[in-house]
Amino acid sequence: MNRVFLGVTGASGAPYAARALEALCEAGCDVGLCVSQSGAHVVAHELLGRGPRRPADPDEVVGELVQRHGHAERVEVLGLDDMTSPFASGSSLRSAALIVPCSGSTLGAIACGTGHNLIHRCADVMLKERRRLVLVPRETPLSPIYLDNLATVARAGAVVLPASPGFYTLPQTVDDMVDFVVGKALDALGVSHRLLRRWGEGAPLESAP
Ligand SMILES: Cc1cc2nc3c(=O)[nH]c(=O)nc-3n(C[C@H](O)[C@H](O)[C@H](O)COP(=O)(O)O)c2cc1C
Repeated sequence: MNRVFLGVTGASGAPYAARALEALCEAGCDVGLCVSQSGAHVVAHELLGRGPRRPADPDEVVGELVQRHGHAERVEVLGLDDMTSPFASGSSLRSAALIVPCSGSTLGAIACGTGHNLIHRCADVMLKERRRLVLVPRETPLSPIYLDNLATVARAGAVVLPASPGFYTLPQTVDDMVDFVVGKALDALGVSHRLLRRWGEGAPLESAP
């Protein structure tokens, strides 16, 4: 898998997006990065230390995200409204898509097929072409509407991979927990990585003293 669309939407969890960008680049993938307006707002707040109420300039935020976490030569920044992107067409053999974090709003648009931006459209294309689509939703608690939408996209072929780190790997840091979720997402995409320790492999896991 070497062409991956990475959609970043306005749910909490920007560190997952940053780590995914980094890990995909390190795995040798060419990444098409598309960030929603709300996604840029959350990245600015959670990663770049901007105040929660300060409006974010999406271009500036995406530029910083790529500079800090991507390998610029591997990343193509895609406009949210750019329906001329190859990722908007099923005829283009772009191979897989990851939306992390995936907001309830984006989830709803995908589940209902009423998308209006490139992130929604790319997800739609992946589903209709039976290609890999991995969604990392983050919300709690979950309403019946949200649960129905998750079931709908899962039935349509998406991998629903909640941002819920495991503790059986005995994480020591927040980064370990982020890596767990991103590692599982890359597994689902078919991209190799060394982000998480696999159960039963390597030295036995032990608690920190
Ligand atoms: C700081 C912040 C955190 C948010 N966290 C979540 C969240 O965890 N899950 C969610 O579904 N929406 C969350 N939202 C709301 C979404 O950003 C909002 O529904 C937005 O319309 C999503 O648009 P998008 O899907 O185009 O990015 C959050 C908004 C802000 C400002």
